Amino acid sequence: MSNEARGTWSGNLGLVLAATGSAIGLGNLWKFPYITWENNGGAFVLVYLGCIVLVGLPIMMAELLIGRRSQLSAVGALREAAGPAFRFVGLWGVLAGFILLSYYTVIAGWSLFYFWKALGWTVSGFDTAGSGLFGEQVANAPLQLILSLVFSAATIGVVYFGVSRGIERVAKVFLPVLFGILLLLLISALGMSGSGEALTHIFQPRFNELDGAGVLEALGHSFFTLSLGMGAMITYGSYIGRKQSIVKAGGAIVALDTIIALVATVIMFSVIFSVVGLRDEVGASAVGMLFISLPELFYTEVPFGTVLAPLFYVLVALAALTSTISLLEVVTAYLIDERKLSRHKAAVGSGVAIFVFTIFAALSFSPAGGFLASMNIWGEGKDGWFSTMDHFVSNWMLPTGGFAVAVAAGWIMTRKATFEQLVDGTEPRWFSFEAWRVCIRYIAPTAVLAIIIAVILGTDFS
Ligand code: PFF
Repeated sequence: MSNEARGTWSGNLGLVLAATGSAIGLGNLWKFPYITWENNGGAFVLVYLGCIVLVGLPIMMAELLIGRRSQLSAVGALREAAGPAFRFVGLWGVLAGFILLSYYTVIAGWSLFYFWKALGWTVSGFDTAGSGLFGEQVANAPLQLILSLVFSAATIGVVYFGVSRGIERVAKVFLPVLFGILLLLLISALGMSGSGEALTHIFQPRFNELDGAGVLEALGHSFFTLSLGMGAMITYGSYIGRKQSIVKAGGAIVALDTIIALVATVIMFSVIFSVVGLRDEVGASAVGMLFISLPELFYTEVPFGTVLAPLFYVLVALAALTSTISLLEVVTAYLIDERKLSRHKAAVGSGVAIFVFTIFAALSFSPAGGFLASMNIWGEGKDGWFSTMDHFVSNWMLPTGGFAVAVAAGWIMTRKATFEQLVDGTEPRWFSFEAWRVCIRYIAPTAVLAIIIAVILGTDFS
């Protein structure tokens, strides 16, 4: 395969920013705050941090090293690392990327809608009739289709230009902007009256308020947030040069992703704890925190909210875009490596094919959606095409994919093969190869197996 179609990162910074862009997304800004809310903060956050260090970080390094070793996308890389049967694990990942992208794009589209609305509110004043807005916009089928189409086109556009000219360039510009906006929001949130209480709620563990399902949810989310279990980091790892350090890059990606999730949670909780009566309201619909509770608060409670609101929704859109890019790249890279397509054909072809399924997801909130809105495979509350897909990917595909990667790196690849990739004399002092081996061979597979068993027994992580 010509290197031109595949591409490489221009350097360590390019890899770290692109992979961090993949990791930071709706999982950090939308999902983590609401699951932290649902699980009563403190103890959940601590357990989540434990999962990130003991399971997420070792698997992140495993995915990056498997990719770099073969310089192939998920299917080829797993085949080279662990034998022909593991190509099916790679294909499982490509399928997960395909499905996840098809519905993730819909939520990403909502951020475009709220950005547009916020611009209008900033210019001509907040319109309080907006409280039912969320329900109206998701039920508006043409609007949902347009928003998803715009987002898909942007994703395809970036992947079309390739690794260093497309993905890396976008990450290099967008990520610093995203960090800057988040810092502004954090400063504003810390100045609010409820920030002290918010910090206590998030960082003071109260173990009696956490149950077993919460522990498993923390573990499940650590996969989603770090983009693990579906070959995205294997694919990004395949563009790493021999001289770059996987340990340093993996450490930086995981640290940045975790910091951003915590910062987003501090911001949202500060707002919630500052407004009398809001706690109960949020309790009833934690999922909608980002799109239902926050817009009005920006204009009524947050200092400089009129300026910060549009910036905030741009931030969500940018974070989502750097994630959708990585999802499309998993499928595109597979088509380039294994099906020998050119990058242009692969990006456009897979992007268009995925968009067909995005249409299903986009229509699943609207009365016009028919069976797409009403289908019900997994039971109450998981109805509609959108929830059905999310349930399947979050509960089944990512944990099983992550388990297979841990087995490949910990049990099938030789100690020497992984050692060579991780230990090159430049790794930081906090890294111990032996500790990594223990995590990847014992801790990570056991923990992931626990999720899979819990899912079989009926727990829901989506
Ligand atoms: N990590 C992304 C988020 O937190 O929103 C979601 C994601 C992106 C998962 C890319 C998997 C992936 F390959």
